[in-house]
This record gives sequence, C-alpha cells and structure tokens, in this order.
Amino acid sequence: MSIPPARSMTLDILRYCLDQHQDIQAAVNRVLQKAAPGPDQGLATELAYGYLRYKGRIDFLLGQLLSKPAQTSPIIKRILGVAIYELLFLRRIPEYATLNWAVNLVKQCTSQTMGKVANGVLRNVLRLGQTVHYPDYYKAKAVDYPTYLAAWYACPLWLVQLWLQDYGKESTQAFLQSTLQTPPTGVRINNTHLEAAKLHDKLRSLATRSWEWGMALKEWPEYLHLAVAQGHLTRQRLAAQEIMLELKAADWPSPVYDACAGRGGKTFFLAEMGKEVWASDTNTFRVQQCRQESKRLGLPVPLFQASGIKSYPVHKEPRTILLDVPCSGLGVLSRRPDIKWKRTLADCEQLVALQRNILDQAAQELAPGGLLVYLTCTLTRQENELQVKRFIHRHPEFSCIRQTQSSPDTALHEYFYGAVLHHTGRPKQNQNCSAEQ
Ligand SMILES: C[S@@+](CC[C@H](N)C(=O)[O-])C[C@H]1O[C@@H](n2cnc3c(N)ncnc32)[C@H](O)[C@@H]1O
Repeated sequence: MSIPPARSMTLDILRYCLDQHQDIQAAVNRVLQKAAPGPDQGLATELAYGYLRYKGRIDFLLGQLLSKPAQTSPIIKRILGVAIYELLFLRRIPEYATLNWAVNLVKQCTSQTMGKVANGVLRNVLRLGQTVHYPDYYKAKAVDYPTYLAAWYACPLWLVQLWLQDYGKESTQAFLQSTLQTPPTGVRINNTHLEAAKLHDKLRSLATRSWEWGMALKEWPEYLHLAVAQGHLTRQRLAAQEIMLELKAADWPSPVYDACAGRGGKTFFLAEMGKEVWASDTNTFRVQQCRQESKRLGLPVPLFQASGIKSYPVHKEPRTILLDVPCSGLGVLSRRPDIKWKRTLADCEQLVALQRNILDQAAQELAPGGLLVYLTCTLTRQENELQVKRFIHRHPEFSCIRQTQSSPDTALHEYFYGAVLHHTGRPKQNQNCSAEQ
C-alpha cells in the first residue's frame, strides 16, 4: 500500500527540518514546490507544524503507551507521533484512515509485529478519549512540576527549567501557553508609497491590533499578494515592529547602521520611517535578499556583506548602531516550533559569547553621543538583561537609557527584548536600567 501523499510530504518536511536542520518554513517550501497543487499541501503543512508544536506532549504519551519507548526507533516514534497528532487534533480525518496509513507504514518500515504494536498504541490513544486534552492527566503521570509543564505544554524539560529559574512560575506558564498558539499574520504598510493611506483604510477592519503603519491581521485577503509584489506592503510580525516603537526608534539619531540586517525587516522599517540607514550582514544570501527587498520597496539603502562590524565600506560615522543579534530564538516558538527541538543549552551559551563579541566590536565604532541598540527575539536572561548588564560593566562609558521586553501575556504570542545604550563619552560607575543580576 502506498502512503497517502500528505503524510509522505509531512514526513519529508520533518526529515529536512529535524534531521537536516532546515528551518520549518524552508523545509515546507522545499517539499511543497515538488508537489501537485491541492489540499494535500495544506494538510502536510498543518500536520508538520502541528506535530512540532505538540511533539513534547505526544512523546510523553508515547512514553506511557509503548512498552519499550527507549528501544523504539525514532522513525517509528515519528510516524506514530504524526498519527497521534491527527487523532487528537484533526477531527475531520476519520480515525480508521489514520490507523490505516500509520500501521501500514510501520509494517513497511519494520515488521508485521511492529505493525501490531503500532495498532495497539493508536487504539490505546483512542481509548484514553478526552482525558489527554486536560492537564490533570499529565499532572497525575509526571514525576514533578517541571516534567508536568514540559509534557502538557509540549516543551523540552531543559527549557522549562531554564524559564522557571529565569522568570518564575507565572511568566513561565504564560510563555509556555504562547508556544502552543498560532501567531497572527503581521504586516507593515510602506508609507513612502502613494497607495499607503488607501491600503491602510482597506485593512483597518481586518486588524486585531495595530500602530500607525503596522497591523496584526485576522485574515489574509488575496489582494495582498499583489500589494506585496508591488512593494506596498511587507510581511513583518507586529511584535517585531512594536519592540522598535517601544525603543523609540523614531528618536534614534541618523545615520543608523543596521549591522545584523538579515533580510532587512528592521532596516526597511527604519527607512520607511525616513531614517538615513545602511546595513550589512555576514551572510551573503541574506544580503541578496535584502537587496531584493530594497528593489521591491523602492527604497535605495546601501547594503553590504561584511565579516564584522568594522568592515562596512561607508565613510561616515553612524550615530546609531542597531544590533538585532543572532540569538536562540526562544521568544518566537509559536511561529518556529522546530526551534524547541533543535536548540540546546550549549547553543545558548555559544550565542551569548557571539553576542558579546558583536557588542564589543560595535562599541569601538560608535562616537560619544551615539546610541547602540541591542535586540533579541529570545527569552533567556543571559542573552538579554545579563548580556546588557555585563556589557555596561566592560564599557562604563555606556549607559542604558531604555530596556523593554514583550509582556508575558501578549496576544501576539511572540517575545522580543531590547535595550538602548547611550555612549556618554565618560565612564560611569552606577548604571541604571534596572538590569538584575
Ligand atoms: C536576528 S537576525 C536579523 C534579523 C533582521 N534584523 C530582521 O529584522 O529581519 C540576525 C542576523 O545576524 C547575522 N549575523 C550572524 N553573525 C553575525 C556577526 N558576527 N556579525 C553580524 N551579523 C551576524 C545573521 O546572519 C542574521 O541575519
């Protein structure tokens, strides 16, 4: 029996994403571009994202239901995991259809005996009924509170423990709850365009939250594809725009050097604000994407591939340096559920060292009076408050004039952290900004 195309695509997406370390959207695009258009594409995407979002809870259930979970091969657990996701969350798919493809695939991959085991596990999931949709089931089975949180909120235990230690119980529960939500689609209207006001009026009724030119939309009307192609609109999460507003980007002195430009999300946010800006990134492909963005939006921004902060070929002094640094990305798990299964504590430590290096380089390039703006999309104090506190300790000529983080209960389900550091020109001993130890 051949496996239905949507499940085959799902398993391919998960293989590229989890075994070959592609990011989830790149893995989805790679698989879907070879597939025939149709509903299977949507189902495969839904299954891959959903499985990654709930993998921790599903693995916990498998741990309860398999007689030898540690000895069961990862591929069998993945097939069963996707099938359990279908049984628990996709009511429109008949149960027999799920059992049929999953049991047959397990048989094909291993043996008749293993097929019987798979059948037994999936039938036992069905027997558990509604209980598995309530936290009490996991509370009763888990050995302690962090293990319960890890199972119910489907997050790795190390991350739950880190958040409990860094942020306490209440905020940790809010962060964990957010990881299971689907974040809204964010857009930014290109206000340098003649069509901007018209587009703004058209979209206003679809916005669940907004600022002047940015919105979180409850739906994506077809006509927006054209608006994006014509450079009237950019997809950018609203939480990423809000952090720029909270850090008072409009008041940053120009010229601004965006030294970690990526695809240019912040670069063009600033350019549309009327700032003189130039940008670089270490990654050649991202610089190319940034150039395409520049063309698409009709905003000519100087862009460079640079191996470090010093190496940009602009013979001007920046008055603001923006560092939207590479980080562990633990604040955006609702959009990128794959990150929680790939990231390790060791990665976070390596990133802290890289961020420190980038900050120290940037400090050398900024004249007194200038601003250094530090941004992450993560939730670890080592990469956020403590990184800033330690920077100020090494560079007492800087003073932290603003520091902010998305609220734990944000309806946007994504978390950013940012700090504005002012080069005072003189060493200072007592630093403000309430960064705790
Ligand atoms: C968080 S992303 C930037 C996102 C971007 N600002 C946006 O809004 O779309 C961080 C970027 O830093 C770049 N990067 C990595 N190492 C770097 C380094 N040592 N110096 C400067 N940039 C670096 C990465 O290539 C990545 O594009």
